[in-house]
Amino acid sequence: MRQVLKVFILIVCMAALPWSETPAAEDKPFVIGFSQATTTEPWRLLFNKELRTEAAKYPEIELIVRDGQDDAQKQFSDVEEFIDQRVDVILISPKVAGALTPVVNKAFNMGIPIIVLDRDLANKRYTQFIGGDNKRIGRTAGEYAVARLGGKGKARGNILEIWGGMKSTPAQDRHQGFADVISREPGINSLIEPRDGDWKQDLGYEIMADAVERFDKIDLVYAHNDPMAYGAYLAAKDAGHEKSMKFLGIDGIPAEGVRWVHEGVLTATFLYMTPGAEGIRQAMKLLRGESIPPRVTLPTMTIDKSNAEDILLRHGLIGDQQGSKTKNGLTSIAAGAVAAATRPGGSE
Ligand code: FRU
Repeated sequence: MRQVLKVFILIVCMAALPWSETPAAEDKPFVIGFSQATTTEPWRLLFNKELRTEAAKYPEIELIVRDGQDDAQKQFSDVEEFIDQRVDVILISPKVAGALTPVVNKAFNMGIPIIVLDRDLANKRYTQFIGGDNKRIGRTAGEYAVARLGGKGKARGNILEIWGGMKSTPAQDRHQGFADVISREPGINSLIEPRDGDWKQDLGYEIMADAVERFDKIDLVYAHNDPMAYGAYLAAKDAGHEKSMKFLGIDGIPAEGVRWVHEGVLTATFLYMTPGAEGIRQAMKLLRGESIPPRVTLPTMTIDKSNAEDILLRHGLIGDQQGSKTKNGLTSIAAGAVAAATRPGGSE
């Protein structure tokens, strides 16, 4: 009954929209609760920004955002609060799979629609999952590494892999996809036991600083995200070895990974889109009574020297100000907005 009433109010709101002011909070019939794992990384800030921008297009929703502060227990409590408030839809990007599966299942069992974003859980007791295909990204990175080290069947070299959070599904899948490809190459040697870099630049630095001391020769570093790849590059540079190594990352956000590729710091990065905007679009479909698929897979692409400049130009991150040609003529205001959204601390 409550839902029928809300759909009725939604139809009335939508009909009145072109002539009315933005509804006040008390007129918003739908509440969406979004539980974000952390806001310590630029990718997360872009994610929040894209989610908020999409949500602002729907005057009928009130959006509540909670930051789990990189702590699974805190995130668990945030979702419990949404359950207690009986929000209409919960969106969650879980820090880890195991510790957050029970609270997601609890919401689902109570009939609250719950959409899982980016990192998956230990079971499928939720309404929908939206994210990239991390095994495929790992395989693509593996194929890229093999090509750079001499080609299929002939590749030679020592590879250091720097893991993201080991208890999260993207790190597990990015490892698996990469391993599936490089394990077929007898000339490739994988260095050291896996160590958890928890997606952080400073841990990427530490792991690499240890590795350069322990191994005479590292040919390629594959890090599960761009900040760790960048941290590894800095450690190699401090040790005076960065020029003989290739660095691969994942995420490809313009003001970070793409810029590092353009500057020659990273050899390549692989796009991992944030599910922020799509999360809101799918939640709105649900609220409007449409059915949604159990899984939405976001596209990826390889970003290297061949296309990094074009991407930066398109985002207005390089252009006339830097003395290079502007293809799409984006203004410096747009450039500033994109840079701000993707700079640490820039959009919260
Ligand atoms: C940000 C992040 C991204 C990574 C994603 C994986 O917290 O570490 O860099 O691609 O999470 O879930």
